[in-house]
Amino acid sequence: MSDPPTPTVIILAAGQGTRMKSDLPKVLHEVAGRPMLMWTVEAARVITSDENIAVVIGHQADLVRAILPTGIKTVTQRDQRGTGHAVLLALEEGVGSEGVVVVVPGDTPQLRGEVLEQLVDFKTDSSSGVVLLTANVEAPTGFGRVIRDTDGTVVRIVEQRDATESELAVSEVNTSVYAFDAAALRAVIGDLKTDNAQQEMYLTDTVGLIRERGGVQAMVGDADDSLGINTLGQLADVDAVMRMRINQELMDSGVKILDPSRTYIDASVTVEPGATIYPDVYLQGGTTVADQAVVGPSVFAIDSEIGTGARVWYAVLREAIIGPRTEVGPYASVRKGTVADAGAKIGTFVETKNTHLGEGAKVPHLSYIGDARVGQNSNIGAGSITCNYDGFEKHETVIGDNVRIGSDTMLVAPVEVGDGAWTGAGSVISRNVSPGALAVERGNQKEIPDYAAKRKAKADDT
Ligand code: UD1
Ligand code: CA
Repeated sequence: MSDPPTPTVIILAAGQGTRMKSDLPKVLHEVAGRPMLMWTVEAARVITSDENIAVVIGHQADLVRAILPTGIKTVTQRDQRGTGHAVLLALEEGVGSEGVVVVVPGDTPQLRGEVLEQLVDFKTDSSSGVVLLTANVEAPTGFGRVIRDTDGTVVRIVEQRDATESELAVSEVNTSVYAFDAAALRAVIGDLKTDNAQQEMYLTDTVGLIRERGGVQAMVGDADDSLGINTLGQLADVDAVMRMRINQELMDSGVKILDPSRTYIDASVTVEPGATIYPDVYLQGGTTVADQAVVGPSVFAIDSEIGTGARVWYAVLREAIIGPRTEVGPYASVRKGTVADAGAKIGTFVETKNTHLGEGAKVPHLSYIGDARVGQNSNIGAGSITCNYDGFEKHETVIGDNVRIGSDTMLVAPVEVGDGAWTGAGSVISRNVSPGALAVERGNQKEIPDYAAKRKAKADDT
């Protein structure tokens, strides 16, 4: 016996998502850092290959197409005349000519590939024309209700707006995820009417039509896996579900997360086992956290690398590389192009940008270091600043190894401080400093003896 043909997946993503009250197409809203449509694409990829996936687009089609992998087919639905109409257009373009046709809404990012796998297996093992994925929910308002007859067989789906009082009391809802037999779907899709509250072609009506020709079955799933997002409130609920899944997976792998409900790690982030994450941490984009690193409380990191055993707290990191055992914070802004080698320190109220700190280099307090290279084991005294901008251009500050920059030194770039050199506290350094030298730039200190007594005497006189 030959294998059955690989399933086709049709993802419905043409609607505007009016109930989101947002200009961004609904399917592009992010869930755990990834556009919701891409979660659905990833789930579809578990059961089929890209050439068997078609996405129906319409509202702001160019924006939606732009996020899709190139191998995936798109079908354009110019006017959104309903979920049935969207599927009809795909079938007319030759999508899903045989085998199992899985239809998935693009607004259900929490739907897992394994659930689609189970649905397809269910369909393959049965002779019914369609298997629906349903869920029992406490608050079914807004969803289509699954109507069964007295012996429990599914009869049809009725939409909220078209339902009677007793139908509204049904708590089993349509998730809008279906596995159709291609022939059964093709036989009925042309018969869909628009005699309903929204005057649309409802894909849900295929269920009643297929029932008359060979049976309908339902697979009851977990509500957390499959409820669609229609509002920003539901977006937040699903975001929480997805983040909890990510956190759970990380904890299972050996990442210590103190409070998963206050930890926001995007799907694109890597955290190695052995790392510890304190509350109020946001890890986004291509961020990676190595083993033994301790991150948080209160860290926002995007596209940054946090090395083995590094300690980062109360800090914002953007496109930064934090080396092994390096300390960052509390209260640090580590901007684009900061590279801190092993054992370095970016301390309290310190901002860095486009700066390389060598191994063991330290900027402990109250500094701005930008467009700079700081050599190994050098120390930048409190309150020191690289004056990198002359009002027209940015210039570089180069500090050698084992340098001691005195507190409150202004380094007027371009300027170089040689290996082992010192600068005196409060100096404005505008010329290069030779290796091993001390550069001081300061007015001489004057002293007026007995000033306090004289002043007091003057005050007593008046
Ligand atoms: C749909 C189902 C409902 C189910 C619910 C589950 C219908 C008629 N109703 O309702 O039974 O309980 O999903 O979440 O199918 N879309 C298009 N073209 C269109 C219309 C919609 O591509 O012409 C897309 C949307 O972009 C969206 C998906 O189809 O991704 C579902 O559409 P939506 O309007 O959200 O349907 P619901 O009212 O939620
Ligand atoms: Ca929906």
